[in-house]
Amino acid sequence: METTAIRIRETGGAEKLLRETVSLPPPAAGEVLVKVAAAGVNFIDIYHRTGLYPLPLPATLGLEGAGVVAEVGEGVAAVKPGDRVGFCAAGLGGYAEYKIAAAERLTPLPEDISFEQAAALLLKGMTAEYLIRRLYPVRAGETVLLHAAAGGVGLIACQWLKQLGATVIGTAGSVEKGELARAHGCDYVILYGEEDVAARVREITGGAGVAVAYDSVGAATFEATLNSLAPRGMFVSFGNASGAVPPFEPGLLAAKGSLFFTRPTLMTYCASAEEIRGSADALFFAVRGGLKINVGKTMPLSEAAEAHRLLESRQTTGATVLLP
Ligand SMILES: NC(=O)c1ccc[n+]([C@@H]2O[C@H](COP(=O)([O-])OP(=O)(O)OC[C@H]3O[C@@H](n4cnc5c(N)ncnc54)[C@H](OP(=O)(O)O)[C@@H]3O)[C@@H](O)[C@H]2O)c1
Repeated sequence: METTAIRIRETGGAEKLLRETVSLPPPAAGEVLVKVAAAGVNFIDIYHRTGLYPLPLPATLGLEGAGVVAEVGEGVAAVKPGDRVGFCAAGLGGYAEYKIAAAERLTPLPEDISFEQAAALLLKGMTAEYLIRRLYPVRAGETVLLHAAAGGVGLIACQWLKQLGATVIGTAGSVEKGELARAHGCDYVILYGEEDVAARVREITGGAGVAVAYDSVGAATFEATLNSLAPRGMFVSFGNASGAVPPFEPGLLAAKGSLFFTRPTLMTYCASAEEIRGSADALFFAVRGGLKINVGKTMPLSEAAEAHRLLESRQTTGATVLLP
C-alpha cells in the first residue's frame, strides 16, 4: 500500500523535510499496520534531520504517535484491527498516514486518552518515567534541578516530580515559560538566560546543591549543572537542545565532589516489551493521579517543517502534535 510520509533524503534545515508518497509492504509476522491519527514532534526528530544522530537515508522521521490498528501480520494476538494504540519505542516512521510497527512494542491506549493526547504524552512521558523512577529513583523531600522545564518532557517531569514529593527547581527561557512551569509544579524557576543558575541553586538549597540534575539542554548548561550538584550527585545528561556537551576529563567529576555522570536514552530504558509496558502503565497511573497532558500546539502533518522551526527556535511549550 501507499502512504503519505514526511521524509528526509539528506540532512540539514527544516526545508529538507519532504512530503512524499512511499510504499509500505504488508505487515510481516509479528508486525502491525497502524493508521496514524496523531504524530508527536520531538527534539530527537531535529537531531535526526540535522544529522547530529545519523540515520540511513532516505528516512521517514517520527518516533511517537497514536492511531488505529489497520491490519495485523501473522501470529499477532496482542492487538487486532480497530484497536487504539500508541507508539514511541517502535522505530521511525511516525510522520506518516500509515506506519508499520512490531506488535509487541505498541501500547494499547486507555479509552480516556485521545490520540492527540497520546501523541503528546508517550515518548516524553516514558522518558520522564525512566529518568525519575528508574535511572535515579527520586525520593520525597529531595531537591531536583530540571532544565527546560516548560518543554515537552519538562512539563510532564515537573508534575510527576511533584507527585513523588520532590522540590523542583526548573529553568526556563522566558518569564512566560517560567510561569507555565510553575503552574505545572515547579517550586522555583530560574531564568537561565539572565540568572546565574548554580548560584541560585546554592541559594535555594542553603548551599547544599541538588542530589540530581536533569539536563537536556547540553552545551549551554553543562557547566552550570556541574556546579549545581551536591557531592556524590547525579548528572543526567539526556539531550542536546543547545548542542552536544563537549568532551571533558573524568577528573572534573572528582573535583566537583565525586559526581556521577550518565548519558541515557529511552531506547535502552525501554529495550524490551516488558519495559515498554511497565513504563506506559506507570505513566497512565500518573495521569490518573492528576498529571495533565499539555498539547501545546496541533498542526497538519504537511506543516512538519514549520513545527520543527518553532521547536528549534524555542517558540513552543509542552508538546507539538501533527495531524495526518
Ligand atoms: N535521552 C532521552 O531518552 C531523551 C528522550 C526524550 C527527549 N530527550 C531530550 O529532552 C529534551 C526535551 O525534548 P522535547 O522534545 O520535550 O523538547 P522541548 O523541551 O519541548 O524543547 C527544547 C527546549 O529546550 C530549551 N532550549 C535551551 N536552549 C536551547 C537552544 N539553544 N535551542 C533550542 N532549545 C533550547 C528551550 O526551552 P527554553 O526556551 O525554556 O530554554 C526549548 O523549548 C531534548 O533535548 C531531547 O533531545 C531525551
